[in-house]
Amino acid sequence: MTTERPLRVAIIGAGPAGTYAADILSKSDLDASIDIIERLPAPFGLVRYGVAPDHPRIKQIIVALANVLGRGDIRLLANVNIGTDLTLEDLREHYDAVIFATGSFHDADLDIPGIDLEGSFGAADFVSWYDGHPDVPRTWPLEAKEVAVFGVGNVALDVARVLSKHVPDLMPTEVPANVVEGLKGSPVTDVHVFGRRGPAQVKFSPLELRELGHVPDVDVIVYPEDFDFDEASMEAAEKNKQTKLVVKTLTDWTLKEPTGASRRIHLRFLQAPHEVLGEDGRVVGVRMERTALQGDGTVKGTGEFIDYPVQAVYRAVGYWGTEIEGVPFNHDRGVIRNEAGRVVTEDGEAVPGFYATGWIKRGPVGLIGHTKSDAQETIANLVEDAPALYANTRATPAQLSPDNLLRLLKDRGVPVVQWKDWEVLDAHERALGEAEGRERVKVVPREEMTDIALGRVSGNDAAAGSGADAAAGGADPAADDDEHAWSI
Ligand SMILES: Cc1cc2nc3c(=O)[nH]c(=O)nc-3n(C[C@H](O)[C@H](O)[C@H](O)COP(=O)(O)OP(=O)(O)OC[C@H]3O[C@@H](n4cnc5c(N)ncnc54)[C@H](O)[C@@H]3O)c2cc1C
Ligand SMILES: NC(=O)c1ccc[n+]([C@@H]2O[C@H](COP(=O)([O-])OP(=O)(O)OC[C@H]3O[C@@H](n4cnc5c(N)ncnc54)[C@H](OP(=O)(O)O)[C@@H]3O)[C@@H](O)[C@H]2O)c1
Repeated sequence: MTTERPLRVAIIGAGPAGTYAADILSKSDLDASIDIIERLPAPFGLVRYGVAPDHPRIKQIIVALANVLGRGDIRLLANVNIGTDLTLEDLREHYDAVIFATGSFHDADLDIPGIDLEGSFGAADFVSWYDGHPDVPRTWPLEAKEVAVFGVGNVALDVARVLSKHVPDLMPTEVPANVVEGLKGSPVTDVHVFGRRGPAQVKFSPLELRELGHVPDVDVIVYPEDFDFDEASMEAAEKNKQTKLVVKTLTDWTLKEPTGASRRIHLRFLQAPHEVLGEDGRVVGVRMERTALQGDGTVKGTGEFIDYPVQAVYRAVGYWGTEIEGVPFNHDRGVIRNEAGRVVTEDGEAVPGFYATGWIKRGPVGLIGHTKSDAQETIANLVEDAPALYANTRATPAQLSPDNLLRLLKDRGVPVVQWKDWEVLDAHERALGEAEGRERVKVVPREEMTDIALGRVSGNDAAAGSGADAAAGGADPAADDDEHAWSI
């Protein structure tokens, strides 16, 4: 496509969806000038802040994402939040098109009595804590001996595994220092993971499930009375390779004797959460309702209740997208309203120049690789719309200059972290890791991250304070005339 100037495109979110979208757009026929705007001081979204630290092989996907973001033709503007640092109006004034790739960060609600008791947590919050997310508290109350996890997806597996793994087995990973300290004191002995449907309906990946069977000093226990297969279950186990493997692993475990390990993960099926039981405002147990399969893989409550004494509950019943004010949002599904990636109003009318991709487009399910096909669809539609995007742009030629947006952010005192700044922080985290024989030790506090990235703190000061709660020494977060921070 021949045009007088490149199409200016902002991608909001530097997770896999945003990064793949940038890559695909940059390789399309359209001449595009692309900024990726990310609210955290670090890129990579849930690959950095969701994928479990003891899954270093999956974390390696960061290398491929970094190859895109560090290539030089796509500009990363991190530590910039859409909604506060920049408004939708700013985006409309500085770009011809905006792609929302903001993913999901919060837990879906579970509306049962007692869910708000002290000791009842969302899995997403726990994940953010153990993965060193800068915007969550640094400490986590790990006081329970017995724990319940609701949900049988891969997040439930991650939570159960991290809760029950002994700290030395996590040490080779990039788990942050404050998390190591927190987990060290955990008295946990039993983690009960509850699925409301049967073994053929669990959402575990076969590999992740099998991994659970190899965690040192942890027994995985399943209960034959929890096993039932209706017609739909049999069909799924026959036709779907994943289901077949998962059912085989679970069924094999019914024959396994516990080894006497000091910690146990109990996988329980056909039990739906009915109530979190409390005493003096704290969790003391869960009441589960036995369910029965209906033939089509769905279940119905039987009216039989079983109580389990637990002192903490984690709901791992899915993530939920966050609304950006002014962008049409489907509150029933927790996604931006869209048709094949084109943002639409409640009446189905296209919102010119707005697109969505990744979890915020499709909902919080699917693996990292799935966000690539999302991006392909969204970008194909954006490229098709390009003539209209040029014709209808609200941006003036001066506003469209990439320098202009950076100047605006500087005027607002936003300490933008660009790719070269991230590289400084990345090198710093790797150096911290190397000193301990680990790949990386994450810097957790947001201010410390930006101070290191922007060279506002010396290596020694940073090393003394990083990895845990310490505030960055010697930094002046208000300083905004640092050449390094604002170079374009
Ligand atoms: C706990 C957990 C573990 C997982 N483990 C695996 C795994 O092992 N393997 C696998 O294949 N998949 C895994 N997944 C799934 C995988 O993480 C997702 O498929 C993928 O991250 C979705 O990509 P995304 O870019 O849509 O969203 P995200 O990865 O969430 O990225 C969205 C980005 O947008 C940014 N953002 C949000 N709001 C704003 C705003 N207002 N302004 C600017 N930026 C904003 C966020 O900070 C974030 O960086 C896991 C998911 C979870 C929850
Ligand atoms: N290692 C990995 O590859 C990895 C790790 C983590 C996450 N991920 C991916 O990230 C995505 C999100 O994972 P996730 O675990 O959050 O979601 P998920 O796979 O959708 O699992 C959610 C679980 O919660 C249950 N649930 C939902 N509402 C419930 C309720 N009201 N009561 C009881 N149970 C309820 C679901 O049961 P029903 O099926 O009955 O609804 C399901 O078992 C998935 O695609 C996952 O594969 C991958």
